[in-house]
Amino acid sequence: AQPLRIALAGIGTVGAGVIRLLEANGDLIARRAGRRIEVAAVSARDRSKDRGIAMDRYAWEDDMGAFATREGIDVVVELVGGADGPALTLARNAIAHGKSLVTANKAMIAHHGLALAEAAEANRVALKFEAAVAGGIPVIKGLREGAAANAIERVYGILNGTCNYILSTMEDTGRDFAEVLAEAQAKGFAEADPSFDIDGIDAAHKLAILASIAFGTRIDFAPVAATGIRRIIAADIAQADALGYYIRLLGIAEVTRDDNGAHCLFQRVHPYLVPRDHPLAHVDGATNAVVAEGNFSGRLLFQGAGAGDGPTASAVVADLIDIARHTGDGNEIGAPFSIPVAELENMRPASA
Ligand code: HSE
Repeated sequence: AQPLRIALAGIGTVGAGVIRLLEANGDLIARRAGRRIEVAAVSARDRSKDRGIAMDRYAWEDDMGAFATREGIDVVVELVGGADGPALTLARNAIAHGKSLVTANKAMIAHHGLALAEAAEANRVALKFEAAVAGGIPVIKGLREGAAANAIERVYGILNGTCNYILSTMEDTGRDFAEVLAEAQAKGFAEADPSFDIDGIDAAHKLAILASIAFGTRIDFAPVAATGIRRIIAADIAQADALGYYIRLLGIAEVTRDDNGAHCLFQRVHPYLVPRDHPLAHVDGATNAVVAEGNFSGRLLFQGAGAGDGPTASAVVADLIDIARHTGDGNEIGAPFSIPVAELENMRPASA
């Protein structure tokens, strides 16, 4: 079979992880995907950066925008980041030119996912973003496929590793917020702008995506109410502990009813008190965990690394394997948000 030819735009932590993973597991991936996944071209801002990879094995392109139109590329893998700017331009152009798109970009999907999905559906290409939510945890696939038979009424969890690291470390050590934040940044899982982490925005992006997948609603990021963890001090954690709780930054999305009985969508990111006997109370460090309540499956818990090169690359390559399996030979890939964008419900936000 023809290899699936990919172009990698952005070779930071995750991009380098994708290259390493494809080098290490290429044979088993080819067996599972039915064909090889071949890195046809790569591009990033800084060519000379040492990535710990023999980059001369890969064809370099200075202008990543050219990937959208270049012959011999089936999939553009966008790992540039940012809701708008070059990432969005590349995503739109790639899809418009009949190339599938795989991205880890939660901000872009939260803001522009519906428009990109519509374009992908119209152009009969794939748009996939497993890595955009909870890093290495296959929660998009888990909800879209594993739990597809269920009505899901509630989905919630720990969606930001940086905040969870900060809260659980403050809890264990009694140290203060600022000191532990600096440590989280040094460990490399904080966003380039750490206010996205600690103000709950990164978690809000992921929550909006999860809600759309879980409930079949149109992604609606604007009304997600987000409060972060900036104002939590060591004494808050000690007081919560005395009451029998741990403090965790949770994203919660739920279909509720308004005063007239109409369905509405509650989406909120906030520090919540989690009772000690709840499974989320024991999720420590930069880990993520997502709980989904299905009406036939019961409570599902997805847990694992929410960030980092290996886990996030694992999610990116899972999407590539999906595309390798389902495209070519006249196959086509389905609706990115489980059902076609036109059929997603337009649900009013729950009033604040
Ligand atoms: N900054 C994010 C986190 C990285 O801490 O969870 C993954 O989106």
